[in-house]
Amino acid sequence: DWKMQDVLDEEIKTIKSMVGPDEHVICALSGGVDSTVAATLVHNAIGDRLHCVFVDNGLLRYKEQERVMSTFNSDLHLPVTCIDASEKFLSELKGVKDPEMKRKIIGREFIAVFDEFAHMLEKKIGKRPEYLVQGTLYPDVIESCPPPGSGRTHSHTIKSHHNVGGLPKDMKLKLIEPLKLLFKDEVRKLGSILNVPESFLKRHPFPGPGLAVRVIGDVTAGNALDVLRQVDEIFIQAIKDAGLYDEIWQAFAVFLPVQTVGVQGDQRTHSHVVALRAITSEDGMTANWYDFERPFLVDVVKKICNNVRGVNRVVLDVTSKPPATVEWE
Ligand code: XMP
Repeated sequence: DWKMQDVLDEEIKTIKSMVGPDEHVICALSGGVDSTVAATLVHNAIGDRLHCVFVDNGLLRYKEQERVMSTFNSDLHLPVTCIDASEKFLSELKGVKDPEMKRKIIGREFIAVFDEFAHMLEKKIGKRPEYLVQGTLYPDVIESCPPPGSGRTHSHTIKSHHNVGGLPKDMKLKLIEPLKLLFKDEVRKLGSILNVPESFLKRHPFPGPGLAVRVIGDVTAGNALDVLRQVDEIFIQAIKDAGLYDEIWQAFAVFLPVQTVGVQGDQRTHSHVVALRAITSEDGMTANWYDFERPFLVDVVKKICNNVRGVNRVVLDVTSKPPATVEWE
């Protein structure tokens, strides 16, 4: 794609001239497409003066830390430090049921870890990093007034909860936002020129607060997170096996703090309900629920109930957006 190749060359040139020869740049990787493509691009421009951090907040999916770190290391050769802060996040979230409160706590803890990373780095390289890379896209930046000369006239609503905001003031980082004039499909094209694996570029979006907004109520209750991870993995794997992953915008399971009566073997059980949700969408702003074929659903429910201890009932979310949101919280 010559147009995206031009965009790439131009961005690399800009970053090279902007970041001085002994200046350093930091970047928080979420494991998503945007931050990964942004970091890979900046890495191409300035090499190992880029320092990335990936935070395990204890709210990631099944084997996600290993899977994502292996892509960063083996496929992209990105310099990434993995910080496992799961204990801290989960202890702060203990007993918290309110969705907005959960988001607030997660945002605050994330900033604390990021701050710690910047200090670690300062010790290591002997100076403060000057720049911060963010994978902000065009729809994130623009509500009604596109930057002059961008040639863009679309108008999108800003969703503030979607981005990491409010870094500590004393960090005084200058921003590098190499994707800020691009839409998602363009970012995917750019990523493919940068040799980001196709499977990675096609990953479904995943919310910053992770599984915290997919365990309804207290995330730390019982083994909710563990159960949810297993159910989610079975569901997603079934979707991939059926060849449906790419036509679905997002698919996931939700853990409900509700127990119902069931019968498994010849035992009466009193276990949890999980919900499955899959949607199609252009941009996440509106969405339609995805209509699976009956045999797919029969099979996936059987797999879940037979393999995941603590679940005896599966329900399917058949609500579009609006009136529901994508996530349950
Ligand atoms: P909703 O639930 O608002 O979701 O219809 C729209 C899209 O945004 C994702 N989402 C989030 N992403 N932080 C994020 O980074 C959040 O707090 C958050 N809440 C929802 C959701 O997965 C969907 O893609």
